[in-house]
Amino acid sequence: MLTYDNKIILAPMVRIGTLPMRLLALRYGADIVYTEELIDWKFLRSKRRYNDILKTVDYIDQSDGTVVFRTCDEEKDKVVLQLGTCDAERALKVAKMVENDVAAIDINMGCPKEFSIKGGMGVALLEQTDKAYGILKTLVTNLSIPVTCKIRIFQTPEETYSVVEKLVSSGIKAIAIHGRTRTERPQHAVHTDVIRFIAERISIPVIANGGSKEIEKYTVIFKFKEMTGCSSVMLARAAEWNCSIFRKEGLLPMDTVIKEYLKLAVEYDNSPSNTKYCVQNILRDLQETPRGRKFLECQTMDQICAIWDLEDYCQEKQSNYHKLGIQGRWQVTP
Ligand code: FNR
Repeated sequence: MLTYDNKIILAPMVRIGTLPMRLLALRYGADIVYTEELIDWKFLRSKRRYNDILKTVDYIDQSDGTVVFRTCDEEKDKVVLQLGTCDAERALKVAKMVENDVAAIDINMGCPKEFSIKGGMGVALLEQTDKAYGILKTLVTNLSIPVTCKIRIFQTPEETYSVVEKLVSSGIKAIAIHGRTRTERPQHAVHTDVIRFIAERISIPVIANGGSKEIEKYTVIFKFKEMTGCSSVMLARAAEWNCSIFRKEGLLPMDTVIKEYLKLAVEYDNSPSNTKYCVQNILRDLQETPRGRKFLECQTMDQICAIWDLEDYCQEKQSNYHKLGIQGRWQVTP
C-alpha cells in the first residue's frame, strides 16, 4: 500500500504527466508520480484494454479512439491518478474502473482555471467544503487504495486550517498543499509559512508544493521540505523543465534528458503532439535558436527524434510496431 512519508513526488501536470514523463521521473528517482488531471466524465467515456504489443493498460475514448490514460507495470505501485470532478458518484465510478491499475486516487481541489471553476471542479471545491468532503468520504469508504487531495491555500493560515481539518476528517491518507492562493500565479512567492502552519497541526502527511522556482537542484528539495515542515515534497515546473531534478547524483544536461524522454515516448507510442509539447517545455527559450526552430517545424516522431540522433531507434521501433499491428499515430495533430 502506498504511503506518503519522506517521498519526492512528480506533481500532476496537464499534458506533461503522461506515461513517458512519469516513467522518466521514476527512473531518475521520484518515489511517486501523479498523472495529469483527468476529467471524470471524459474518463467515463473510455474502455479499458490491455495492449499486448506495448504491454500497457490503455483506457481508450470510445468516441474518438484517443488514449485517455496509459499505464504499465513499472509504475503500478507508484502512480496516482488525479481526477477532476465535482460529483461523488461519478468520481467513484472512475475510481472503481482504475482501482486495480493505480496505486492511489487524488482529487484536484486547486486548479483555478475557468474550465474547472465553471464545472464546479478544482479550486471551486474549496468553496463548497461539504461537497468536497462528500467526494473524499465516498471514495475513502468504497476504495481499497489510498485517497488524497491537492489544494491551494486561503488568505490566512487559520482559514486554510479549518478547511484542511474538515477534508482530513474524511479519512484521506495525505494532502498536497500548493502554497499559493487561488488568485496567485506561479511567479508569486510561495507561502511556506502557511504550509508549515498546517503541517504542524494535522496528523496525516502533508505534501509541500509550489517551490519549483527556487528548487534548481536536488539538495534544495530538502531545504524546501525543512522550511515547510512537511513529510514530502511535490515538484511540478522543476520537473517539467528538467526531470532529472529527481536524481540524487545531480542534474543531467538538457539534451540527455530530452533523449531519454524521447526514447520512452517512442517505446510507449506516445502521441507526437504530446511528445512535442513536452519537449517544447524542456527547451523553453531555446526554441528561439536555429535548432529550436527546426524542432518546431517537426510534424512526425522520426523528424523530432532525428534532431537528437534517434532517427534509427525511432524508425526501427515504429516499423516493429507497424508489423505487429499498431497503425500510424505518428503525425502531429493540430
Ligand atoms: C500544473 N498544475 C496542476 N495541478 C493539478 O492539481 N493538476 C493538474 O493537472 C495541473 N496541471 C499543471 C500543468 C502545468 C504545465 C503546470 C506548470 C502546473 C499545478 C502544479 O501541480 C503545481 O501545483 C504548481 O505548478 C506549483 O508547483 P511548482 O511548479 O512550484 O512545483
